[in-house]
Amino acid sequence: MARRNKVYEGKAKVLFEGPEPGTLVQYFKDDATAFNNKKRGIITGKGVLNNRISEHLMKRLNEIGIPTHFVRRLNMREQLVKAVEIIPIEGVVRSVAAGSLATRLGISEGTTLPRSIIEYQYKSDDLDNPYVSEEHITAFGWASTQDLDDMLSLALRVNDFLNGLFFGIGIRLVDFRLEFGRLYSDDDMRIVIADEISPDNCRLWDMETGEKMDKDRFRHDLGRVEEGYQEVARRLGILPESGPRDIKGPKVMQ
Ligand code: TMP
Repeated sequence: MARRNKVYEGKAKVLFEGPEPGTLVQYFKDDATAFNNKKRGIITGKGVLNNRISEHLMKRLNEIGIPTHFVRRLNMREQLVKAVEIIPIEGVVRSVAAGSLATRLGISEGTTLPRSIIEYQYKSDDLDNPYVSEEHITAFGWASTQDLDDMLSLALRVNDFLNGLFFGIGIRLVDFRLEFGRLYSDDDMRIVIADEISPDNCRLWDMETGEKMDKDRFRHDLGRVEEGYQEVARRLGILPESGPRDIKGPKVMQ
């Protein structure tokens, strides 16, 4: 199967050549890592849930004119995406203090920030994805000033949209991490949202109880990890009826 040519394997996903030029198939694994691969595990059914959650969120973004690499979901664990050139800078958008921001700046977890802010990480596993400034990014040529303007404006639009969407289902969007890709067409290039948007790269807290419903459950051994992901999917109204536990192989569900 041509589609099965592996292009890249990451910690949580595999990319295969797509059925037509300029496309890739993104396969979601159940593997979970944290602290740059120092902690490893399996979250049963995570791949299926993240495939559905990311499909749902990226589709909504596409619908409101925020460009993403997402084309369509193919089956339980795979989605078709546009091939992009990944920018080696990730954008972390934060509305509430948590994680490394709380630690770095000594702000107590759960403090609402005066406004949403964006921080940038340089994508390098060897360096543990360090936070970097716009100065580093432009001086070292990882992205141009124009790229950064586009990334910021996309990230803030995504933030506004996701904040409202999650608020509507009783979830506080604390922070999330975005990847960006350059999408080339003829002589044109535009920056789009790439990778995935799921509880793997968002912090999602139940608005009433404050309970964490994201990968922090795995990072910090809070237990009931799958349940957190399932509850996010359930509130979004997209939990597959069969549930995530009975997956033997990819099955078309469209
Ligand atoms: P941090 O507070 O640990 O720096 O994480 C910021 C955001 O980025 C949070 O939403 C979790 C997400 N994240 C990833 O997607 N991948 C990672 O490797 C890490 C450390 C965080």
